[in-house]
Amino acid sequence: MATDQTSPAQRVSDLRQKYVSGAVATPPIVAARASGARVEDADGTTFIDFAGGLGCLNFGHGAPEVVAAIHQQADLYLHQCFMVAMYEPYVEVCRRLAELSPCRGADQKSLLLNSGAEANENAVKVARAFTGRPGVIVFDRGFHGRTNLTMAMTTKVHPYKHGFGPLAGAVYRAPAPYPYRGITTEDAIAGLHAIFKEDVDPSDVACMVLEPVQGEGGFIPMPEDFVRQLVEICQQHGILYVDDEVQSGMGRTGPVWAIEHYDGVEPDILVSGKSLGGGLPLAAITARAEIMDAPEKGGLGGTFGGNPLSCAAALPVLDIVSSPEFRERTELLADKLRSALNDIAARHDFVGEVRGLGPMLAMELDTRERAYNTTQAARERGLILLSCGYDGNVVRILVPHVIEDDDLERGLQIVDEALGVA
Ligand SMILES: Cc1ncc(COP(=O)(O)O)c(C=O)c1O
Repeated sequence: MATDQTSPAQRVSDLRQKYVSGAVATPPIVAARASGARVEDADGTTFIDFAGGLGCLNFGHGAPEVVAAIHQQADLYLHQCFMVAMYEPYVEVCRRLAELSPCRGADQKSLLLNSGAEANENAVKVARAFTGRPGVIVFDRGFHGRTNLTMAMTTKVHPYKHGFGPLAGAVYRAPAPYPYRGITTEDAIAGLHAIFKEDVDPSDVACMVLEPVQGEGGFIPMPEDFVRQLVEICQQHGILYVDDEVQSGMGRTGPVWAIEHYDGVEPDILVSGKSLGGGLPLAAITARAEIMDAPEKGGLGGTFGGNPLSCAAALPVLDIVSSPEFRERTELLADKLRSALNDIAARHDFVGEVRGLGPMLAMELDTRERAYNTTQAARERGLILLSCGYDGNVVRILVPHVIEDDDLERGLQIVDEALGVA
């Protein structure tokens, strides 16, 4: 009798090959279950997870409070559409975001959405409605999403833009500091002034959109003097400062928002997402009431934005991220990670820089191939690890903060071993 030798993981992988678009890049891992900072594949192999579903699981896979809240909500109702009937979890998430908002102004309001890209699109819509201006300024190496407007706002041509045009207009790209590669705050500010001279008058600019730590661009924290000068320029010209914290927010760098590392800096609009939903799709924009109320009634919304299950999941997440225990854990994790990565870097001369903010840390290597080989070798040894960066040569750590100490140590040991063979 013929026996089927195909493993469960191989079977899913074969079906994926046949039925799922080849344009989605997937590594050869078929997840079956996950908990904390561990993922088990369909063949029973366990991986330590340094990727956290691409930064969506700062509080771990299956955080018990989050799962319980989802179960409870599932018994009440799954969906309403906020434009059909209001529900408390949506309003409560907005109330909590107002309490935690780093933005300028007393009365903070929010709009809930499904994804970071959708949130960035809405931040631009709101900024345009409030200012009556079309222009949007973004920065080199920024990543803001894959929808039509955010494709124009995102820096890389391959794979994000090529073949997908025409892209949205009135988006201008300014230089951003990259100290490791010699691009200073002065260079970046000079580039912005050049845009005002060559491309668009500041009085036609609605907003500037900046990640405080560039995520996909290579985990590059924006220097404090750059952020301060941008805020001044924005205030001088009535331009709104949009803080894209889709990746750097929700405790990823320690405080709830990375912008809290920049003393006294208050953005006009905050964009959040990823870990906000504790693993369910949820994103938001938050700003003072006069900005959020600027578009006409009905001008903002969407069928699924702020889905009840996602909102129910976000409530315990917002409790956890604002608790002193989480902050303490995050600071400990940041210290451990930074010192371990510095030790690792000292053993491999092709590691050019260890950088980041809090536990949002990465290593810039010499080549893209080496970063790719490192993530492959890590996977073969049981670690899920991601690369990023404008040149694809950065290995980044997006580990759930709840990782057990033993797993953290083993994961870092694997990073070291993987670099050794990459
Ligand atoms: C800073 C930043 N903004 C926006 C996005 C887009 O978010 P989404 O993939 O949820 O659309 C991302 C995704 O990685 C991001 O890192």
